[in-house]
Amino acid sequence: MRTPLVLGNWKMNLGARQAIGLARDLKRAVAAGGSRATVGVCPSPVHVASVREGLEGSSIQVGSQDLVAQEPGAFTGGTSAEQLRELGVTFTLIGHSERRHVFGETDQDVVAKVAAAHRASLLPVVCYGETLDQREAGRTRDVVLGQVEAALAGLSAAQVSALVLAYEPVWAIGTGRNAEVADAVDVHRTTRAWVSDRFGPEAAAAVRIVYGGSVKPDNASGYLAETEIDGALVGGASLQADSFLGILGAA
Ligand code: PGA
Repeated sequence: MRTPLVLGNWKMNLGARQAIGLARDLKRAVAAGGSRATVGVCPSPVHVASVREGLEGSSIQVGSQDLVAQEPGAFTGGTSAEQLRELGVTFTLIGHSERRHVFGETDQDVVAKVAAAHRASLLPVVCYGETLDQREAGRTRDVVLGQVEAALAGLSAAQVSALVLAYEPVWAIGTGRNAEVADAVDVHRTTRAWVSDRFGPEAAAAVRIVYGGSVKPDNASGYLAETEIDGALVGGASLQADSFLGILGAA
């Protein structure tokens, strides 16, 4: 049985007070709610420490939106896996579509970041997904499996079992245009079958694959009712306690 995962990606949003206020609201509601899902939030890096402090004593995990793959050293502007770990971060997004498409990250960067996350015992949440052009050209399968194959290269079956994949079609992120549940299920199933071929059926049964892209309280239950979909990575709707908790309620 895979534990569902509901993650909020706050991106470059919220001031310090808003971030802490949101964390406190979530802490209270999650303590009272008794959801069986694991809940995590990824604040902007400047708020990671204060949000972590605000969530002291809560089951809500704090994640990073990104990390620099190199070991601590002369990398101006960067944050290492070790620094994140020391702050109490337990997981990190890797290869989010905005990192790939706005900041030009490649599959090689993703591989290095997955290794860095493992070095510091952070759980990697590896994001992948096709663009609209790729989908319309009938290339979804090749693109998504290409990204997953690159990201997981060199990992052991045990490492793959433990990590999280986040299928996020690029055209669905922040657009309000969420994927059809059947299309998401199809990609999740294709991904899991590939993991089974490459790493074995046990790894395929264990790896969690969450969906992201315009998940809202009114569409979340459609995804989360599917056994193939192990949770949600939520952007815009995670910025307000009510809407994030509405999604969590569907898990
Ligand atoms: P969205 O973002 O929910 O605002 O579409 C999802 C994400 O970027 O992870």
